[in-house]
Amino acid sequence: MTTATQERLIRPARNVMGSLKLPGDKSISHRYAMLAAFAEGTSRFTNFSTGADCASTLGCMQSLGAQVNRSGEAVEITGVAGRVTPADHPLDCGNSGSTMRFISGLLAAQEGRFTLVGDASLSRRPMERVRKPLTEMGASVTLTEGHAPITIEGRTLRSIDYSTPVPSAQIKTCLLLAGLQTEGTTTVREAVRTRDHSELALRAFGATLTRTIDSVSIGGPQTLRGIEAAVPGDISSAAFFLCAAALFPGSGLVLDSLGLNPTRATLLDVLTALGARVAVLNLEEKHAELVGTVQIAAPEELGSTTVSGALAAQLIDELPVLAAIAPYTSGGIRIRDAKELRVKESDRIALVARNLRAMGAEVEEFEDGLDVPGGQSLHGATIDSGGDHRIAMAFSVAALRAEGETLIQGAESAAISFPEFFDLLDMVAER
Ligand code: S3P
Repeated sequence: MTTATQERLIRPARNVMGSLKLPGDKSISHRYAMLAAFAEGTSRFTNFSTGADCASTLGCMQSLGAQVNRSGEAVEITGVAGRVTPADHPLDCGNSGSTMRFISGLLAAQEGRFTLVGDASLSRRPMERVRKPLTEMGASVTLTEGHAPITIEGRTLRSIDYSTPVPSAQIKTCLLLAGLQTEGTTTVREAVRTRDHSELALRAFGATLTRTIDSVSIGGPQTLRGIEAAVPGDISSAAFFLCAAALFPGSGLVLDSLGLNPTRATLLDVLTALGARVAVLNLEEKHAELVGTVQIAAPEELGSTTVSGALAAQLIDELPVLAAIAPYTSGGIRIRDAKELRVKESDRIALVARNLRAMGAEVEEFEDGLDVPGGQSLHGATIDSGGDHRIAMAFSVAALRAEGETLIQGAESAAISFPEFFDLLDMVAER
């Protein structure tokens, strides 16, 4: 199957200025959609993610018997009250690793036979990481050479105590969704803390779980009740605008109602460390998720920083854009302990390095990261996004301060998480 790809020309900007409210967080939207579809009763969400990934989750859950009514960013879901109806066709997870890994845990404990498929990129991504612990729980999960398509024969599971081998909120969530339906206590231990939206969302839907600094335990079986919620703006989408604003002394950007969950907001610390002036206003809590307004202004010159260890896991989705702006810093950006970047929608280490070089930058690639020296100027180039949304958007940001125009190939991929990206970029980029 071939998919039409689009190109997008990005012209350099003089400044980045304005005020935006961003669409709902992708991670939270996935979780709210899946839990609502599994819960009793009707849930209503506003500012639901407009990305194709969350539409994949909604589509799969609809195929499993949930009722979904959607009008733009408003979504109403009536759940299956804990029992899905097996579909007579494969469940299409599209490009979405979250959809595939979460739903594997949910369905492993349900009755019936389920097949999960994805697009070419998702079909290359590692799924053994969910098969292994689910099999320890007694599940029947069959992969195709370590990847999708996945076949699940749902059955009664037993609880386990599992330490995740790689930092992954997707593995954790998969096991919590299986544990929710399983007698006894299922515990997931993490050496590095990953995003905790599942823990917060499960509680919001009425589940009880216990947490320590490095573990989460859920007793099962438990039932969930529908909720009403406004999804906070997506900080990983905001990252592109925050980094764009950080590039222009004299810039000023305000982002409203942004999700500021501490497991996701590390970019604000990194930008502050690089010299940007970042302020957080109007902090509120919504279903235990922090939401606030972020203001950013750039310094005369960005400094330098290293992202490694636990920071790399927390910033995993923001690393491509940080690397893409690194040549414009004075001292460069060093990224390590980010091997997971190689198994995202693309090999993001290889693609970032290749595209930075295409723009004339010097960069050194490592198995688990990159060294991007500072003090470099870039020129416009043709960028191969590899069909990866975050690569397409990261290099659109780098293009704002390059000399000459940049052509982003595969620009349509931005719609995986952020269909409004290019329109909003045009609104705030002054030319
Ligand atoms: C996500 C977790 C991360 C992240 C992805 C969304 C989530 O993946 O890269 O974009 O919503 O749980 P891993 O948990 O596999 O690192």
